[in-house]
Amino acid sequence: MSAGAVLPSSPDEVVDAVRNAYGTVAKEGADRAYADTVAQAFGYTAEQLQSVPEDSHMGLSCGNPVATASIREGENVIDLGSGGGVDVFLAAAKAGPTGQVVGLDMSPDMIALARRNAAKRNLKPPRVSFVKTLLHERLPINSDSVDCVLSNCVINLLPTEGKANLLKEVYRVLKPGGRVVLDDIIAKKEFTETLRVNLQAYVGCVSGALQLHEYREIMQNAGFQDAVFVDTKGDLNAYTQGDSIGCCAKPEPSTSCSVSSSCQPASCGPSSSCKPTSSGTSTQSTSTIAHQVADVNEWAASYQIYATKQANASASDGDVVSTAVPVLESWKDAYPTPKSSPRQITAQEVAELLKSAPADRRAHDFAVIDVRRDDHAGGHVRGSYQRAAQSFYDDLPEFLEKFKETNKVIFYCGSSSGRGPLCAAWYQDYLNEHGIGSSEALVMAGGAKAWLAAFAGDEALTDQEKA
Ligand SMILES: C[S@@+](CC[C@H](N)C(=O)[O-])C[C@H]1O[C@@H](n2cnc3c(N)ncnc32)[C@H](O)[C@@H]1O
Repeated sequence: MSAGAVLPSSPDEVVDAVRNAYGTVAKEGADRAYADTVAQAFGYTAEQLQSVPEDSHMGLSCGNPVATASIREGENVIDLGSGGGVDVFLAAAKAGPTGQVVGLDMSPDMIALARRNAAKRNLKPPRVSFVKTLLHERLPINSDSVDCVLSNCVINLLPTEGKANLLKEVYRVLKPGGRVVLDDIIAKKEFTETLRVNLQAYVGCVSGALQLHEYREIMQNAGFQDAVFVDTKGDLNAYTQGDSIGCCAKPEPSTSCSVSSSCQPASCGPSSSCKPTSSGTSTQSTSTIAHQVADVNEWAASYQIYATKQANASASDGDVVSTAVPVLESWKDAYPTPKSSPRQITAQEVAELLKSAPADRRAHDFAVIDVRRDDHAGGHVRGSYQRAAQSFYDDLPEFLEKFKETNKVIFYCGSSSGRGPLCAAWYQDYLNEHGIGSSEALVMAGGAKAWLAAFAGDEALTDQEKA
């Protein structure tokens, strides 16, 4: 990104620029020495950093929320703007196997990186999930389901109205008595117009920052009456290297890009560079911007914000009401959207396969996979394998081993409009990724409903046993 690129006027374009910038960081990876310097400047201990996958922290933080969040075994936690997942992994270690920790981020590249990092530690949903979502819109999280909401250097990046909206959503999803620990950048004074419209200063977590009184107001409007703001005195100059400003910061080649030039690559990754076009006119040089923020601490500070959602009047001592509510509204959100669209096969065609193939041949020719979990009433296709859709994605390596030589792997669920096609598509994607042509995923059209309508009374075809 050019140090002089201008902040777009529409909030959607700003969000796009932020997404592109952090997506580039996720794809290109962090400079380890830089990431360690920033992490240490904002309070991460060596022990914490050693306990998480290396790529999960990339020098994008401005605090260490888990250190003060007092997360306990079994708690549900969400991390707003989870990046590579550093705080999710630290929180998951505290919440243990009975807790649920969900990282939310809009960047598909960050989500993919965080999921790879989780796989390195064998951490799976529901214990650890990463979900792609826009934080300034409705969160895909159940109401009253979360004990603790974390965020680290993210809220300043949201459009102004989105910040207020997010905090209202945070209040909605917290359990009564639940708490927030938000690390964020807060402006110490009004930014100059030049700094305010500088895209790099915005993406770098500086010029989107609210002033303290503005932040207090949106916390209060969201329902948090007791918010406490603590200046952590973190040194924001830790980010400053070369021409960079703020937390999406890597030293970049010096350029003569200007505020009014047409040079506006929307990235701030390690190797991003800016090549101004000949039409660019240099009205505001990089050095001018860099000069203005020579001391970032003069303009902004890192804060940690604590607040709680009022406990229910019925909760005797103000403790969090303990309920086993799933955090995610939809378990599917924790997994990638598949690319494949598997072919359909009718219930009648599946019945023909069953009738024509002796049991010992079936394993090679075809297999039927029932991905329902608690809705088996009425029976299922005789000889079908039972695999719950909710854990299917995580079991793909083992599933592939078992079925990679099976020509047709036929999936179904209740009506084959949701879980069946989803699992089939994940399997087909997995086959494609591994270049395996000996097996194909199919979907039984109409699912169990169509099957039972035609064959419920046929004992040779329908197994009445509840799986
Ligand atoms: C400065 S990074 C911080 C990452 C992480 N919290 C850490 O400390 O390493 C900001 C993150 O917030 C995400 N983000 C920014 N604006 C967002 C929005 N409107 N919706 C969802 N995610 C957003 C970015 O994609 C990026 O991963």
